[in-house]
Amino acid sequence: MSHPHTIWINETTGIVEATDQRWLPFRNDIFQIRTLDDAYFAIREMVVRGAPLIGVTAAYGLYVAACNFEEGDFSGYMSEAGEYLKISRPTAVNLAFAVDEALTHVCAEYSPEENAERLLAYAESLKRREIEYSTQIGCNGLELIRGISKKKGGSVVNILTHCNAGRLATIELGTATAPIYLAYEENIPIHVWVDETRPRNQGARLTAFELAEAGIPHTVVPDNVGGHLMQHGMVDLVLVGSDRTTLNGDVANKIGTYLKALAAADNQIPFYVALPSTSIDWEISDGLTGIPIEQRDPREVTHMVGLRKGQIAEVQILSDLSPAANYGFDVTPARLVTGLITERGICQASKEGILSLFPEKNIRT
Ligand code: MRU
Repeated sequence: MSHPHTIWINETTGIVEATDQRWLPFRNDIFQIRTLDDAYFAIREMVVRGAPLIGVTAAYGLYVAACNFEEGDFSGYMSEAGEYLKISRPTAVNLAFAVDEALTHVCAEYSPEENAERLLAYAESLKRREIEYSTQIGCNGLELIRGISKKKGGSVVNILTHCNAGRLATIELGTATAPIYLAYEENIPIHVWVDETRPRNQGARLTAFELAEAGIPHTVVPDNVGGHLMQHGMVDLVLVGSDRTTLNGDVANKIGTYLKALAAADNQIPFYVALPSTSIDWEISDGLTGIPIEQRDPREVTHMVGLRKGQIAEVQILSDLSPAANYGFDVTPARLVTGLITERGICQASKEGILSLFPEKNIRT
């Protein structure tokens, strides 16, 4: 990895840069965010992805928008920029959260240049906050892995994860992977089953890449293998991330997460979701009716990207005669979630559980 973070300011040029995740692990490019459109494109086309990173990118996007302001009503211009970014991807609540919070830093009394500085300061502080949250999630989740390891008398703890809730989806350490890294550092024997995560293969391309870089034992499996593994006692814990968790504990995460939760419940396997509070939607309760589910280009289903003779290549995998649907996320109801691992601790996936860790939010309910 060329830079320890997934998004940063180039110290020489002052340009916002991000790891381009579209071609990893085959090609490790850097994407420059010079304009608001670049930020929109980066989020929409999944140059950057993962709920916390999407939020931080939006914050930097507003900073570059402010830098490019020419003339007119600055506040109106910034509000429009925020609305534009918000529609780039609808499911991860971190995006709207970051836009709304960033815009509270825009002040009519200041010049556009001063406002740009304030927006940059906000983006950097949100980035630091996400790093801190990942570390705290890691410490809190580590307790769980320690407990399972102890129960198993020190034999290997098998963890199944879906999609990529690792360093690449955040800034550092990840959410679902944070406890895994810390357990590995502590010499707890662990092994991770990595769901490939069709259609974009974030598990196979990104999570496996991250784990391999860290030397953590792992195996990539097709998405439909998890149930079999669970039935045969080969999974001790399912650990996933979240794009939006509602106040009653419903969790939207990458499509296919719900099926893993069902299989985990049928096999009495703990199913935990690791998330920073920036992924909690405090406004809605029912995830099934309230969370917008992104539908992406069917081409991501009909075609696959991979490496062919050392070059990145795309192949068509089904006939032109068949249509395809591409739902990006699904909702796992709170009743299937054993617990939520947050930066403040682990709680039940319920309103009571969440508010016990975030009592200050009680006034808004
Ligand atoms: O479509 P993606 O790749 O942005 O989806 C990412 C996920 O579903 C992650 O699990 C989620 O954002 C949590 S990231 C810490």
